[in-house]
Amino acid sequence: MEKSAAREEREFAFSERDFQFLAQLVNARTGIVISDNKRDMVYSRLSRRLRALNLANFLQYCELVSDANGEDEMLNLVNAITTNLTHFFREKHHFEHLKKNVIEPLIKSRKRRLRIWSAGCSSGMEPYSTAMVIKNTISDISAWDAKILATDIDTTMLDRGTRGEYTMEEYNSIPPEYRADVSKNPNGETMQMSDNLKRLIAFKHLNLLESWQMKGPFDAIFCRNVVIYFDKTTQAKLFNRMANLIEPGSFLYIGHSENITQICDKFELVGRTIYQRV
Ligand SMILES: C[S@@+](CC[C@H](N)C(=O)[O-])C[C@H]1O[C@@H](n2cnc3c(N)ncnc32)[C@H](O)[C@@H]1O
Repeated sequence: MEKSAAREEREFAFSERDFQFLAQLVNARTGIVISDNKRDMVYSRLSRRLRALNLANFLQYCELVSDANGEDEMLNLVNAITTNLTHFFREKHHFEHLKKNVIEPLIKSRKRRLRIWSAGCSSGMEPYSTAMVIKNTISDISAWDAKILATDIDTTMLDRGTRGEYTMEEYNSIPPEYRADVSKNPNGETMQMSDNLKRLIAFKHLNLLESWQMKGPFDAIFCRNVVIYFDKTTQAKLFNRMANLIEPGSFLYIGHSENITQICDKFELVGRTIYQRV
């Protein structure tokens, strides 16, 4: 079938103007760049919202979100557009590095203070992986002032993280040595993160483009697979702001396809997608 014919058969009219309007709105609010080839993705992700709101076409949806009362829907729009792919112990070498170069030196220093920021934490598998490494490495964790700040713009993902409930398939990517604080839920189907792990994490709604309340300093920041959706200028601003929240010698972990060497000189590459504050 011709692509244009497929479009004509769509449930909701979706003009080029509607697409451009939504792409610009999302970009201004979140930093996410939606390229022209993402038209079908935007249509399919937002069609559910049009159905839920009983709207007849995308023009009505654009009018709704641009209206002064459209702020609530803006939240749903952002939740629908973000890409949240994640898994436990993604880039396992980052967690090995964290254990060896951040946590173990802190144990030796006897400081007993640890701060980690998972920026763009999605459904929580990144901060829970971090919490598992912390629990596994620090024997007297209850005597520590240890906190993982886990932030995301997507409120549905933060709800998932706060619940700490994951499917068996998701659980399977946790290495066996880190599974001690995860148990099966009474439904026999899902896996539950323990309160010991939950206590280490604070999930908070945060748009990286807006102002940040936290002062740091963080011993490490995870900002992985978030900025790939942003333009270079936004990326540069973001990493320069992050540099102010970590002290020289502390680490920044980024996504496997990302590189900040050209855009921020406050970090030095010290490992595969691992940077150190200079
Ligand atoms: C692909 S996920 C990456 C999750 C995790 N860091 C990992 O690497 O497995 C990207 C996350 O960035 C979040 N995100 C996108 N734009 C954001 C913004 N402006 N502020 C905060 N979070 C944002 C999305 O909601 C999404 O959950």
